[in-house]
Amino acid sequence: MSTREQRTRWFLQDRFGMFIHWGLYSIPARGEWIRGNERMSYEQYQVYFDEFDASRYEPKKWAKAAKAAGQKYAVLTTKHHDGFCLFDSKLTDFKATNTPAGRDLVREYVDAFREEGIMVGLYYSIIDWHHDDYPGYGDKAHPDRDNEAAKNKPIDFDRYLDYMHGQVKELLTNYGKIDIMWFDFSYDDMTGEKWRATELIRMIRSIQPDIIIDNRLGGNIRAAEPEEYAGDFFSPEQIIPPGGIVDEKGEVVPWEACITLNDNWGYHAADKNYKSAKQVIRTLVECVSKNGNLLLNVAPDAKGEINRETLEVLDEVGEWLRLNGDSIYGCKAADLPKPEWGRYTQNGNRLYAHVYDRGIGPIYFEGLKGKIEKARLLRDGTELKVEVPWMALEYSDIENGAFINLAGSRLPDESDTVIELHLR
Ligand code: GLC
Repeated sequence: MSTREQRTRWFLQDRFGMFIHWGLYSIPARGEWIRGNERMSYEQYQVYFDEFDASRYEPKKWAKAAKAAGQKYAVLTTKHHDGFCLFDSKLTDFKATNTPAGRDLVREYVDAFREEGIMVGLYYSIIDWHHDDYPGYGDKAHPDRDNEAAKNKPIDFDRYLDYMHGQVKELLTNYGKIDIMWFDFSYDDMTGEKWRATELIRMIRSIQPDIIIDNRLGGNIRAAEPEEYAGDFFSPEQIIPPGGIVDEKGEVVPWEACITLNDNWGYHAADKNYKSAKQVIRTLVECVSKNGNLLLNVAPDAKGEINRETLEVLDEVGEWLRLNGDSIYGCKAADLPKPEWGRYTQNGNRLYAHVYDRGIGPIYFEGLKGKIEKARLLRDGTELKVEVPWMALEYSDIENGAFINLAGSRLPDESDTVIELHLR
């Protein structure tokens, strides 16, 4: 039986992944909660099922975009809260193979991403607004939550759990080696053993012993002794935990921040609020500087294409990573206070200074006097001199500090100029 530490080793090396939210909700293009938010009936939502054709779905293009962006793993929604399955499940008719698309979209996804050497993850919502045995009336988000006609509908929740467990088994049996199982999400009393979570986890690990699983089945991954179903990594959403994540014993817990590129997970035609490449780069650095990963979301449109705005950001982030990836992959937090000019990441005796603010005068490295063997501009290997410049002699901390006098008033890379410090 592998340990969490063994299972997550590749995950902590790879640091940067692509989240992909795609499904019927990409047609109304108002976000992935559309059916719940607008209390759509089956019939109203069926319209999207009847026209979903994935006509421009080319997962090889997605995989190449992820690779060019420097994303080392990916997670695709195989079934979101709406219950629509992108895979050829034998347990339902509400699936892509029965739409005009007529394809197993998950099969093509895993094949395409594996071909690019990218680890494959599957997102699966344990919530299901389509299944008759999922409780709707009085739920927090179900389309029938205040539909009086659904108030006394007889349901057999155990039958739903058999279905949900059965689909997870299909996903982990029929698509080869799966690297991440990304569940979404527990809430109120719908958590833990309500999902028969221990049984589910044991089934998962019996089929895919090396898979890593997020913490959204419930339980407390930060406990000294977490529940068996508490997962392998913590999954903060739209936020970077200020101090990273440690458990009750003070030990680092693997974590991954999942962040949208605009303000929606699913495709939203009107949402043009895309983050810049600079924001994405700094978000990635922020995560790694706190021992975390970044899962950056993309939202293909109704036809299966990732839009130009998204691809442009991914391309620019990828170029920065092509030059500076050593400061991200395999790195973690440095045991140093956050510097005024940016952030630190570290990998063994390589300390990476992520300089955001050029400031005035030399770059000051608190506490590193005599500890730096040499320094290089990571992007091109240029030698940088570690020395006390004249202006620091009288006015700075020459007892403990080290200094690098960058030429000029502008940084070589305004998004993040990385200096690789070789520590003694
Ligand atoms: C939230 C949203 C869901 C999205 C998930 C991604 O749970 O409800 O739509 O897929 O976050 O983390």
